[in-house]
Amino acid sequence: MSGFSAEWLSLREPADSAARNLELTARLLEWRQRRGALTVLDLASGTGANCRFLAPLLGGEQHWRLVDHDLDLLARSKAEMQPWANAAGHCSLEWLHLDLVRDWERLKLRGVQLVTASALLDLVSADWLESLARRCGQWRAAVYIVLSYDGDMVWQPALAGDERLREWVNQHQRGNKGFGPALGPDAAAALATLLQQQGYAVRVQPSPWRLEPEQAAMQTALLDGWIEAAREIAPEAAGELANWLMQRRRWIECGQSRLQVGHWDLWAWPDYCE
Ligand SMILES: C[S@@+](CC[C@H](N)C(=O)[O-])C[C@H]1O[C@@H](n2cnc3c(N)ncnc32)[C@H](O)[C@@H]1O
Repeated sequence: MSGFSAEWLSLREPADSAARNLELTARLLEWRQRRGALTVLDLASGTGANCRFLAPLLGGEQHWRLVDHDLDLLARSKAEMQPWANAAGHCSLEWLHLDLVRDWERLKLRGVQLVTASALLDLVSADWLESLARRCGQWRAAVYIVLSYDGDMVWQPALAGDERLREWVNQHQRGNKGFGPALGPDAAAALATLLQQQGYAVRVQPSPWRLEPEQAAMQTALLDGWIEAAREIAPEAAGELANWLMQRRRWIECGQSRLQVGHWDLWAWPDYCE
């Protein structure tokens, strides 16, 4: 188990699909048109949301390697996606049970033309990111890494305490998520710099969640997670947090709450290709 439940991943999947940056998706598809059979590596694939979104768009012959350390999520991914791949005919899928920290050296990038990930980057450390950029550069793989949290959260209606909560959550984001001290909101910008140093052309564009009152379940799930994070960082603020939380819940339950959460998408390609 990784701490990311299949239920949470399924709840966020439609919001993730809606949030992806259209310009960068279009650039990826343009790149794809100039290529034949494609091998794609999906890092921290969970139940396969990234592949579910991308494979039908990419079209043509594709082989996907879906990597995660959570056996449960991999099993769900396989059960759901194998029938789709069989029916589609042009897409073969392979599931790899690997820990991206411990088994990093075993991860083979040779033959991979596209390295992708969704909702992973904010978990990783500077060292891990450096290693990723170096390996991508070595194999001249294009890189499409999306939905990396950028530290921004804006509630409507606003409430005193929103900013404090955001700061505590972002402090928590920089803790160790298994990869060493996480880069959290700085990860996408850090990867952009590292890839440029490897000779890539890089584009980074926003892909925020814009959650409407009807997306109450997702707002509640985020609220619960953030309150837990804030309590860990600032246990002395329990009373202050309880009042803030009560009002936020009330607005969500009454259908009056909107929430924007910032992310970045990144598209990078070895620039000699263009
Ligand atoms: C937020 S989820 C994103 C999953 C999927 N990419 C998506 O967009 O739905 C983060 C994923 O990272 C995986 N993960 C976390 N640490 C990992 C590690 N050390 N090795 C491999 N996978 C890891 C989790 O199991 C989980 O599937």
